[in-house]
Amino acid sequence: MDKRVLLGVTGSIAAYKACELVRLLVKEDIGVQVVMTAHATELMGPATFRSLSGNPVALDLFDDPGAPIHHIELAQSAPVFVIAPCTANVVNKLAAGVADDLLTTTALAFTGRLILAPAANTQMYLDVATQESIRALQARGVTVLTADNGELACGDVGPGRLPDPRVIADEARRALRSSEALAGRHVVITAGPTREDFDPVRFVSNHSTGRMGYALARAALQMGATVTLISGPVSLPAPVDARLEFVGVTSAREMSAAVLQAAATADIVLAAAAVADFRPRITSEVKLKKYALSELSELREGETVITVELVQNPDIVTQLSEARAAGALKRDLVLVGFAAETNDVDSNAREKLASKGLDFIVANDVSRADIGFGAAENEVLVISPEGDTPIAKASKFEVAWQLLELITQATNAS
Ligand code: C5P
Repeated sequence: MDKRVLLGVTGSIAAYKACELVRLLVKEDIGVQVVMTAHATELMGPATFRSLSGNPVALDLFDDPGAPIHHIELAQSAPVFVIAPCTANVVNKLAAGVADDLLTTTALAFTGRLILAPAANTQMYLDVATQESIRALQARGVTVLTADNGELACGDVGPGRLPDPRVIADEARRALRSSEALAGRHVVITAGPTREDFDPVRFVSNHSTGRMGYALARAALQMGATVTLISGPVSLPAPVDARLEFVGVTSAREMSAAVLQAAATADIVLAAAAVADFRPRITSEVKLKKYALSELSELREGETVITVELVQNPDIVTQLSEARAAGALKRDLVLVGFAAETNDVDSNAREKLASKGLDFIVANDVSRADIGFGAAENEVLVISPEGDTPIAKASKFEVAWQLLELITQATNAS
């Protein structure tokens, strides 16, 4: 395991608590490289962190004559980057992609697991700008810990205190443990809806936004996997990473072909896509005119009724479990399905686990506005023949991370 952590220290009074964090990490043989902002050095001397970490402290974009491009070298030096304390200013800068000093430039160049431990005055922490930044960062796969509630250095009482260094150290340790959990593994992920055309203008589809699948792709990349993300039409930007192959598809049949091809080398398939179960039997090459539609229509109980024939789409995960059983795919391929249900969530999901030949099914209640389609958060029950594990409500990225941890632990153990 790569046991190195980059530790960013910014200009909060809580900067002194970062000393305890360094001590906790170093005690466990975790190498710590500290990066400080200029404001942080007004509050704490770099010499303290140099002594505690046993490493020179990085302060300036141009302060290491041995490193041709200091921030890139730093960004690539560890799989986990913790910023503690992280001021409201730095939270907001990171959300906007500002890179105007060594710490923020390194964060922008960093592709591993970024963990922020905020510390700010209550008003600054609760300000709409800061809270929106936190949500935006979480949606992009950054872990932002919740600030503690209590007495602050300015005398105010409320949320904004730096989380306990032991909590931050636990999070860093967990991230380190998982940072290579999927190294050398090929993970295939389906995401978003599929779109089934009637004609070049009209289609049938569903409300899936692809957020869960894209969060899974980012989490798998951060755990070291090579990822194929096969996505239906969504409005999300694909993660940019040398280990990611992105395949854009429209219909269920296109998705099926892309998945079957990618699955040949897959170790894990995560089928998060909401595949349309049916497609129009006939797709017109040209836009159907109203008069042509009316030829298909009949008047029933005072309403014009148009009958469109739909045919069933292939069930992609069933195709995969059959191919695996036939020996066409890796025998130990782990197949994970998702069941978006509006009622009888657990029993419907359990039924799908069995009928589709899956190893895990992730059940969620899409009738709930707070965790359903398009929501930033999710709350799921992971069902496998070995038992059920709930994942509490959290950002879709956090849920993705916990789900991958669970799958890797369960499949490594067996
Ligand atoms: O639509 P349904 O609830 O049956 O979806 C459950 C799981 O099956 C999901 O993981 C979904 O991606 C997958 N599925 C599929 N092909 C379909 C329909 C669903 O792979 N045609």
